[in-house]
Amino acid sequence: MAQSFTVPTSVKIRLCQPKSSTIDLAQRLEACGASWVTLHARTVSARRRRQGAADLPMVKAIKEALRVPVISNGNVRLWDDIPANLELTGADGVMVGETLLGNPWCALPSVPVISYLKLPCSLFAKTVPDPVDIALEYLGLCRQFPGTASLAVMQTHVRHFVEFQCARRPWFHKFRAALGSTSSTEEMEKLLRTSVEQWRGRRPRGRDDDGTQSELDVSVANEEDSAATTEGFDKELRDHDAVDTTLLLG
Ligand SMILES: Cc1cc2nc3c(=O)[nH]c(=O)nc-3n(C[C@H](O)[C@H](O)[C@H](O)COP(=O)(O)O)c2cc1C
Repeated sequence: MAQSFTVPTSVKIRLCQPKSSTIDLAQRLEACGASWVTLHARTVSARRRRQGAADLPMVKAIKEALRVPVISNGNVRLWDDIPANLELTGADGVMVGETLLGNPWCALPSVPVISYLKLPCSLFAKTVPDPVDIALEYLGLCRQFPGTASLAVMQTHVRHFVEFQCARRPWFHKFRAALGSTSSTEEMEKLLRTSVEQWRGRRPRGRDDDGTQSELDVSVANEEDSAATTEGFDKELRDHDAVDTTLLLG
């Protein structure tokens, strides 16, 4: 396959069982023409498929065994995890999955992070994105590209966006149940624009609202969403603007 394509072919694998055989697999993939190898350092049978500690020493072992670039995947929850991961594994880049569902801000464009989410750059602003803004923008993209995500997938993603910042809100379980019973993107959008905004102490949004709020709304909302202050994120940005990382993948 790698020989017949005009574009590079990369491979993403999980840990094999026994995990030492992952190195052999990766070397065989390299020999077959893989331009780079990404290791999601968990086994397929990990109890929760994307949870639990990733085996980063295995990424290091693969990196040492291959000549092609290696991308490390797993364990990134905060910005700090990215340089720590690169340092520990020696990998050429880091791939982040679930964390970006909750906090797209976690990955700035200057960091070698690959996301399957393909979120628009507007979300990489120096502020914590509002979860309803993220969810509505995401649903807009789903409508723009029909067939990309099933209803169940959209529901899961929207739940993640809201859960990351609002999991401890008293209305969260009500939101989950209501989300689970939606049967279209329109219903999900309506739930977010009206009920969720009201539960958060905000004014319901109309279809054309851009999410900006009156001062009164903002002070109520800030109290409600105090867990999501920008202070820590601003500090993260200051601390890591200077991080020098190299992106090998285009
Ligand atoms: C929304 C989403 C979509 C994903 N799509 C794919 C995919 O198409 N192919 C794949 O190999 N892995 C996919 N993954 C798995 C991630 O690439 C990654 O291996 C996994 O989430 C573990 O990384 P994490 O600990 O950073 O979440 C997806 C993950 C998420 C959260």
